[in-house]
Amino acid sequence: MVATLSADALRHLRHNQGMTTTPTTPVDIDWSTLGFSYIRTDLRYLSRWKDGAWDAGTLTEDNVLHISEGSTALHYGQQCFEGLKAYRTKDGSIHIFRPDQNAARMRRSCRRLLMPEISDEQFIGAVKQVVQANERFIPPYGTGGSLYIRPYVIGVGDNIGVRSAPEFLFGVFCLPVGPYFKGGLTPQNFIVSDYDRAAPNGTGAAKVGGNYAASLMPGQQAKQTVIEGRHFADAIYLDPETHTKIEEVGAANFYAVTRDGRFVTPRSPSILASITKYSLLYLAEHRLNMPVEEGDVYIDRLDGYTEAGACGTAAVITPIGGIQYGDEFHVFYSETEAGPVTRRLYDELVGIQYGDVEAPEGWIVKI
Ligand SMILES: Cc1ncc(COP(=O)(O)O)c(C=O)c1O
Repeated sequence: MVATLSADALRHLRHNQGMTTTPTTPVDIDWSTLGFSYIRTDLRYLSRWKDGAWDAGTLTEDNVLHISEGSTALHYGQQCFEGLKAYRTKDGSIHIFRPDQNAARMRRSCRRLLMPEISDEQFIGAVKQVVQANERFIPPYGTGGSLYIRPYVIGVGDNIGVRSAPEFLFGVFCLPVGPYFKGGLTPQNFIVSDYDRAAPNGTGAAKVGGNYAASLMPGQQAKQTVIEGRHFADAIYLDPETHTKIEEVGAANFYAVTRDGRFVTPRSPSILASITKYSLLYLAEHRLNMPVEEGDVYIDRLDGYTEAGACGTAAVITPIGGIQYGDEFHVFYSETEAGPVTRRLYDELVGIQYGDVEAPEGWIVKI
């Protein structure tokens, strides 16, 4: 169980660790140039699972883990993680976007990798504590930045056989970020990879490190490719079974708008159930009054779509200018401008996150 911290408790905690700053001491960061890079913030949460239970966890200044060389996370990839964000609103309050959804997804990842699950209470409590404790790192309203929160569970402890770990760590840290793909609503081009990021009955639906390790080389190849002067922001992965349908866009989900105005996202057991994607499906249906569906998006039938985009916590909504597939380059709406549906969805989603647009029930946790 993890409760939020009172201002007094936080002051004591910092004092006990010899810290001279407070959660609101100004930080020397140029918010306008923030990218997506590691920045060490003040405090992070750490809890240990041992003898069948998670302990209450603590906030610590130390950003280095000391774990056994036999930890399953190091050798057998027994680990999973999450990504969510906190936002500073116009009135100065702090919003966390749908943390219950991340908690639920992390439980699914833990189950898939035979790791102990984290309750909503512990997960959301830890996230809140970390955000409170690092309040001074939340980018101000209007800068376009946010506080990225990274929870993770790793298998640790002495072990060498291929089996589940004897102990586990649940950590949560955070850092201020700007956009993942530079340029906000500027369209980016992507290129279809021959590689798969996940197997049909593998771990694609879980947020586990192995999927990302498998995507590093195709991602780098995509970024290094130049065709007719065009650069590519990341790789597009097709379904691993038939290589005919779009699945994921780097570390983001895919959506498209059909010529008859339907909002479509791929349905597949090997893609990550993106919280942003399900939010967009809801907003397209209930705020833009569009028919929506999860279905197949065939890579050789892109002419049927007027707009496409990548969506995710980090990517937010990144319009897709065009997709390179073999020798063909297919442009959706424009290589330089976002289409009208993408713009409206972006305004709704980002407006909700920063508190400027009314949120559907339960989407925002305020601190
Ligand atoms: C592979 C992959 N797909 C999709 C997403 C988007 O998921 P979400 O919207 O929950 O951030 C992510 C993470 O951000 C991801 O890593």
